[in-house]
Amino acid sequence: MAQLWGGRFTKETDQLVYNFNASITFDQKFFKQDIEGSIAHATMLGKTGIITEEESDQIVTGLKSIFSDVIDGKLEISTKYEDIHSFVEANLIDRIGDTGKKLHTGRSRNDQVALDMKLYTRDEILVLKGLLITLMETIHKMMKENTETYMPGFTHLQKAQPVTFAHHIGAYMEMFKRDFSRLEDIYKRMNLCPLGAGALAGTTYPLDRELTASLLNFDGPTLNSMDSVSDRDYIIELLSALSTISMHLSRFSEEIIIWNSNEYRFIELDDSYSTGSSIMPQKKNPDIAELVRGKTGRVYASLISILTTMKGIPLAYNKDMQEDKELTFDAIDTVKGCISLFTGMIATMKINAENMKVSAMNGFTNATDAADYLVKKGVPFRDAHGIIGKLVLYCIDNDKAIDDLSIEEFKEICDVFDEDIYEAISLETCVGKRNTIGAPGPEAMKQVIEINEEYLNNLQ
Ligand code: ARG
Repeated sequence: MAQLWGGRFTKETDQLVYNFNASITFDQKFFKQDIEGSIAHATMLGKTGIITEEESDQIVTGLKSIFSDVIDGKLEISTKYEDIHSFVEANLIDRIGDTGKKLHTGRSRNDQVALDMKLYTRDEILVLKGLLITLMETIHKMMKENTETYMPGFTHLQKAQPVTFAHHIGAYMEMFKRDFSRLEDIYKRMNLCPLGAGALAGTTYPLDRELTASLLNFDGPTLNSMDSVSDRDYIIELLSALSTISMHLSRFSEEIIIWNSNEYRFIELDDSYSTGSSIMPQKKNPDIAELVRGKTGRVYASLISILTTMKGIPLAYNKDMQEDKELTFDAIDTVKGCISLFTGMIATMKINAENMKVSAMNGFTNATDAADYLVKKGVPFRDAHGIIGKLVLYCIDNDKAIDDLSIEEFKEICDVFDEDIYEAISLETCVGKRNTIGAPGPEAMKQVIEINEEYLNNLQ
């Protein structure tokens, strides 16, 4: 047992209590950020004269050496310490002696951990943004290549109207653009530094909170010390954004699973992203898409978990808040893994344009356009809807597509039909004429692709 607070106790902590309370097994994940925060704090203590410049330099050098020793594998983070803060402080004192004991001047683990968690979250938001950029670039490339890849658009998973593959995946592009901007928003809102809030009520030392904030690239210090040590809103916001990303990836995965099925064959997953069966030799399963879909549950769970943990906590810091860590780390790692694997999976899958086209042609996806044809010839829409309904029934009974009917068969049902019906209901016309912005027509798609191109070029 190695803890920072033995002074007022007359008995050793029960071992089970110690274990239950300790966090080093998981908070070592922000070892790097703990050192960064301590370096900023020590630098500020020196600059303000709270400790001497020489002491400050010694502490900073000590902290840097601990950091490189851990990174180089020369020093192992030992779980005999209660938490990562204790580990760093104890090692510092080992290295530089009593000066090391001055590091924690004007600081509490409450503002320290609030800072570490913010620094960690901020770093990970940048990684997540990078992964989303790669995913969006992949989708963008696929969109450019598939503006003439016709496929059925669905509602209720029933064929509805023809679209293109570019247009279909363009919907996901919009979702990931929103996800990206959510991450940016969270970063902006959370970017205030809690260091200097102390345990809950600031300190009597003349800390320069502006300085530590700027050393750590924050926009400034937080404005209420009690809120600073007990605010976990940014974690809730991040977990909510991660849940939404997971939901989007899960929907896309579901489509990939359907498209990859024997019945659809719209796409074929690459062997390198598929798995086999131990008993059925013919199988090639979409396990990665299923796992991405499946992992959504644990990401949602992390959001519900932190919301529930936070709901009954009076101000300011309470130990409940230690529960924010494992679930946040897990959700971040899970979503990072899902985005990367998903990106690789769609980048390598084969698109079976012909199967998509055949499917679009065999499912009355041009029925709306056939009705519109009649409307343009003066038939009221409601009547046209009824006529085409009859036409579809006739086609089902005779196992034909609308396009397969002879002009006599058309006229039998309604004599307004003429030879130009074939052109009016061809796949190319059905898609090609839909050119208001956001629609699948080639001109509309061209505009959107240009907008996306510019959007991607401007992302950092
Ligand atoms: N491990 C603690 C956490 O994660 C660090 C803060 C400890 N503060 C305290 N007053 N016990 O929240």
